[in-house]
Amino acid sequence: MPATLEFNDGNAIPALGFGLYKVPLEATEDVVAAGLDAGYRLIDGAEFYGNERELGAALAQASSAGTDRDELTVTSKFWGDPEQTPAAARAAFKASEAALGTHIDVYMIHWPRPARQRFVDVWRELIALQGEGRVRSIGVSNFTEAHLQRLMDETGVVPAINQVESHPWLPQHKLRAFHAEHGIVTQAWSPLGRARVLEDPTVQRIAADHGVSPAQAIIRWHLHLGGALIPKSTHPHRLRENLDVDGFSLSDDEMARIAGLETGERTGTHPDDRQ
Ligand SMILES: NC(=O)c1ccc[n+]([C@@H]2O[C@H](COP(=O)([O-])OP(=O)(O)OC[C@H]3O[C@@H](n4cnc5c(N)ncnc54)[C@H](OP(=O)(O)O)[C@@H]3O)[C@@H](O)[C@H]2O)c1
Repeated sequence: MPATLEFNDGNAIPALGFGLYKVPLEATEDVVAAGLDAGYRLIDGAEFYGNERELGAALAQASSAGTDRDELTVTSKFWGDPEQTPAAARAAFKASEAALGTHIDVYMIHWPRPARQRFVDVWRELIALQGEGRVRSIGVSNFTEAHLQRLMDETGVVPAINQVESHPWLPQHKLRAFHAEHGIVTQAWSPLGRARVLEDPTVQRIAADHGVSPAQAIIRWHLHLGGALIPKSTHPHRLRENLDVDGFSLSDDEMARIAGLETGERTGTHPDDRQ
């Protein structure tokens, strides 16, 4: 069973889950079934991924086969385009809930879209949804320190989680420290750098020294940093491999060698650039 991380609202999530971005529609049910079979208990979804109906079908199938829904954490996110308004957020939440056919455990604002100046209003709507008991925990994704500070200053409610791009090229040490100071869980997206970081010779060397795969070495690095992560794979054997990381640990020297790989290079969009 993956270790859990405590949220600032009293709830907890597994540190290691898997994500569904770019998992094709026709593969989604099998991928989710394989993930649950492997032992994952957190699935990262979103309206934008377009496969929430298939995720819901897999969850229904798992429930009827005896998986306890209460043990699972299902996340979704408000995309916010074309409209990033409180009403659009509520409508998107309901649509995701309907597509999933089950409740959403953690709901996030997918991108701040700062030029629109609406993310604080949308955050108030997520606070309302949580207050109404519609969702257990609320959070954000792709928020910088400045965006988080605005939410906290203007609403007094600290997000439980901020899901951001992070991998050895972009460790996000400063943002992680800010999160730690405010009790926000860091959850890494593209934690394997969309597989590109697996090619790094230092990562490969460290992995070989432990007799593990480069993906396993990077996943262990994330867990040593104290954060959560949601690697994606459409292959059942990789889903199992990515969860099988308890048999080794990285030394301080290995952590330092991986820290030395930081270039700031992103595989995705900068949070201030998506509008
Ligand atoms: N909030 C956001 O804005 C945002 C943005 C992007 C992603 N996300 C979330 O983060 C999740 C993960 O991000 P991501 O998919 O961009 O990147 P990722 O998890 O870093 O990398 C996925 C890639 O790595 C490959 N892979 C996975 N495990 C492997 C292994 N053990 N060995 C070799 N290759 C392996 C996968 O290939 P195969 O599938 O072919 O195995 C896929 O090509 C997404 O699914 C989504 O849930 C969120």
